[in-house]
Amino acid sequence: MKQTADVLIVGSGAAGLTAALNLAETHKVAVIAKGALGEGATSWAQGGIAAVLEKGDSFVSHVEDTMIAGAGLNDRHVVEHVVEEAPRAIQRLIDLGVPFATDGDALHLTREGGHSHRRIVHVADATGYAVQQALETAAAKHPNITLVPDMVAVDLITGRHAKDFSTSGAVHGLYAYNRKKKRVEALTGRATILATGGAGRTYLYSTAPRGATGDGIAMAWRAGCRISNMEFMQFHPTCLYNLEVKNFLITEAVRGEGGLLKNPKTGERFMPAYDKRGELAPRDIVARAIDNEIKRDGLDFVWLDISHREPEFVREHFPNIYDKLRGLGIDITREPIPVVPAQHYTCGGVLVDLHGCTDAPGLYAAGEVTQSGLHGANRLASNSLLECLVFGEAAARHITANWDQLPAATDVRPWDESRVTDSDEEVVIAQTWGEIRRFMWNYVGIVRTTKRLERAKHRIDLLRQEVAEYYKHFRVTPDLIELRNLVEVADLIIRSALGRHESRGLHYTLDCPGLLPEAKDTILVP
Ligand code: FAD
Ligand code: SIN
Repeated sequence: MKQTADVLIVGSGAAGLTAALNLAETHKVAVIAKGALGEGATSWAQGGIAAVLEKGDSFVSHVEDTMIAGAGLNDRHVVEHVVEEAPRAIQRLIDLGVPFATDGDALHLTREGGHSHRRIVHVADATGYAVQQALETAAAKHPNITLVPDMVAVDLITGRHAKDFSTSGAVHGLYAYNRKKKRVEALTGRATILATGGAGRTYLYSTAPRGATGDGIAMAWRAGCRISNMEFMQFHPTCLYNLEVKNFLITEAVRGEGGLLKNPKTGERFMPAYDKRGELAPRDIVARAIDNEIKRDGLDFVWLDISHREPEFVREHFPNIYDKLRGLGIDITREPIPVVPAQHYTCGGVLVDLHGCTDAPGLYAAGEVTQSGLHGANRLASNSLLECLVFGEAAARHITANWDQLPAATDVRPWDESRVTDSDEEVVIAQTWGEIRRFMWNYVGIVRTTKRLERAKHRIDLLRQEVAEYYKHFRVTPDLIELRNLVEVADLIIRSALGRHESRGLHYTLDCPGLLPEAKDTILVP
């Protein structure tokens, strides 16, 4: 059977495209995306990318800031590796034409919470869009890269899908739903890289794009890979509060450039009462402080105020936020912005080593879909695009160096639809999706208790059964594929949270407010 490509990459964000560009000199690569190529979180990134580029800053300091934010759960070796690779990764983006903001001859560096130096390179307040455009343009030009939008991966192909059935856990590609042809196809390759992004849409309020349904995490889990640290869901402190526009992020760089958080009832700053770093404390601390102010005073939101800075400065640094909010009747050079916390980043995921290798031979993963050891219990701001760049390249290098050891091609059985029909009750999908997102927000949110987590567990057990039953009987659609993954990932989050009997980083439970003496990863084994 002819292979679809040497290497299949699921995901066309920063991680997937970086891997593709690093493989394409020697291999034929196919990159699939479940919608348009630029629909992942990468395009939405605002603040920038962290790297040590300023005199006076040091790798040691970036490593320490990352470890402090991660509450001791980071793998120091991984952190050091990523931090040291950062300046080179930024240079590669510059070579691809990313127009980072400059200050004279040097790059302009902004600041974000948890960083003890200015070290965030950025393209005004729309860094991710510029990075996505540059990577996409380079990938589209490369003759060895085929970009395939509108292909929704359903499941990884392992030995049990081979014509000569085997119990080998090796991955040979994946089944994917072709939206245009409305059918599932088998795509095969010698290596497969998951670069599917996070699982933010398990929550009712999230800054993440619509497609962040944890597909890669669920697929890897079903294929036998370990999943780690799913309880560490990051909530960004400052998402715009607006009844019409949901999920619009107000970058942390606004606080980095002097923005202040105020209680609308008193008009006073409140962060100094929670942490000596004030507005620039790590995200978990700021999000919990806002949550506390809102709950204590019965507020709908708090204020984020940058109106004391020069209007020209604000417009120049935050042109997109300025325009967007101006359109909603808020002039941020004159008045404060109403903000609330919202889910933002998935710190846990598919367990990988320094080369992006997962537990399954032939399967790699890079970017937000992974737990690489970089973030620990809480990701430091602007370290995630960096992780995509470093691990996208690492996976590509490992594949090239180990090509002869990768699993040999195998004949794969086609997708079997003989026992399913078209769904006659699609309402189940919207209903279940809504239920999950609501109870995840209320029971598995910023502040947790064992009782709430147990409530969530009862509900997810029931919904998992219902969705499994539905999946058995009906033809797959993109919505059903996502829902099946969403229930799986919600279950992994709840189980991980129930298993952690301490409050560390992003996992904060009223029942165990202290830290255990030893920092241990949560590792779920299928
Ligand atoms: P993504 O860019 O999310 O790409 C995922 C890809 O996988 C997409 O192409 C999608 O179509 C594809 N995919 C998913 N499931 C399937 C499937 N079943 N089949 C086929 N394809 C699939 N980080 C920073 O470092 N700095 C920032 O300033 C910053 N700002 C952010 C602002 C916002 C609003 C958000 C939401 C995140 C921000 N982050 C930031 C986080 C960062 O953007 C992400 O962690 C990062 O972009 C993830 O990149 P990725 O390549 O792993 O996945
Ligand atoms: C932001 O711009 O605040 C987001 C940065 C990040 O998530 O790393």
